[in-house]
Amino acid sequence: MGSTTATQNRALWLSSFDKPLELINLPIPDATVGSVVVQVLNTVIQPYAEDIHTGKLPVFNLALPLVPHPSHIGRVYAVGSDAVLAKPGDLVFFSGSIHGRDDPDVGIIQGHHGGEGDSGRKLMQGEWRDGALQQYQKVPLETIFVLDEQRLVKELGYTPADLHELSFYVIGVGAVCEAAKIEAGETIAIGPATGTFGGISCDVALARGANVLALGRSEEKLQRLEKQLGNHERFRYVVMTGDDAADTAAIRNATPDGRGIEVYNDWASGGLTGSPFFSAAIRAMRPSGRIVLSGGPAGDVRVPYALVMHLNLKIIGKIMVTRTGVDLTLKMANSGVLKLGKRGGSTHNIYGLEQHHEAFRHAKKNSGFRVYTDIAPNAW
Ligand SMILES: NC(=O)c1ccc[n+]([C@@H]2O[C@H](COP(=O)([O-])OP(=O)(O)OC[C@H]3O[C@@H](n4cnc5c(N)ncnc54)[C@H](OP(=O)(O)O)[C@@H]3O)[C@@H](O)[C@H]2O)c1
Repeated sequence: MGSTTATQNRALWLSSFDKPLELINLPIPDATVGSVVVQVLNTVIQPYAEDIHTGKLPVFNLALPLVPHPSHIGRVYAVGSDAVLAKPGDLVFFSGSIHGRDDPDVGIIQGHHGGEGDSGRKLMQGEWRDGALQQYQKVPLETIFVLDEQRLVKELGYTPADLHELSFYVIGVGAVCEAAKIEAGETIAIGPATGTFGGISCDVALARGANVLALGRSEEKLQRLEKQLGNHERFRYVVMTGDDAADTAAIRNATPDGRGIEVYNDWASGGLTGSPFFSAAIRAMRPSGRIVLSGGPAGDVRVPYALVMHLNLKIIGKIMVTRTGVDLTLKMANSGVLKLGKRGGSTHNIYGLEQHHEAFRHAKKNSGFRVYTDIAPNAW
């Protein structure tokens, strides 16, 4: 049963990479067994959203038509008969990562990424095709997380837009906590650190008690990041020069005891080929260090074979996060150790579905760590 009686589902429909998105009316989906229908309150817009919709990023492997866009914050509208916790009216975070129920090796991101191969396409073209740019979205029951509204909204004062910052933090937790398994007192270098996920991962690592070295090419941007992170006493930055020997020495020198880093977390962006800092960072690793590759560049990185062997280094790839990692992120937000919205210094520019063009343009021009553009398909 729905919590209100809605009559229409306004949605942005992508029928072709050659045609602009259309605002249309779709039926409100039914909450069948194993699913939940959520009234979408907020979804943050990535700077490259329009590039996906115009087919410039084939890596997303989207089959059309569909309603695009990944995760959201919403209110449960209706639940399938097997729901044991979620009920209509609950405030929830929907994490778009979906796995085949009969083959968890097959993964997609609902409305956003068609996964790999025929199995990914099959999963994407069925029940879980349509994304968050609509008023009512049907999602798998196991992909929603019921939020503690009393704590997050009434006590900490967060809005749905503030809460959707969780969609970035879960990825940072995936890299820093699940893959790198960072421990308090260890030193992690993160680079490039001046993008959205670099900044998020610095914040997560500081919250977990690590020393953080932010790597970047622009001192001005690194200084801005330092300020955004409250001039934290465990935060330092290194301005990278492109001279690997000098950069490796600078990273070592910036560690508390000058002996190197336990973890390097790489966030090379999608426009790059290879990673600009990998080569210098891997040479600054301490024995048994962990290197986590979580960016999305094209091409390859060169691995110094003997060094990896002699130092017992681990090179780990990491995409997204597990359900346990999302739960950990929520605990960190509830406790206040991760600060969202104004508490963390974030800004949000929020648009309606009708203003999606402005939203995409604004996101492309302005997005970054703690500078967000959002679409709110329903009023809060
Ligand atoms: N693992 C996952 O689950 C996951 C999830 C989401 C996204 N990603 C991937 O994470 C990557 C980063 O995303 P993002 O949104 O944080 O990117 P972003 O905000 O666009 O950040 C780009 C970063 O790359 C740096 N950069 C760009 N060109 C450079 C160059 N030539 N030399 C040195 N630094 C350069 C920028 O430095 P300046 O500030 O100096 O320009 C900035 O720090 C993307 O590829 C994305 O696909 C992964």
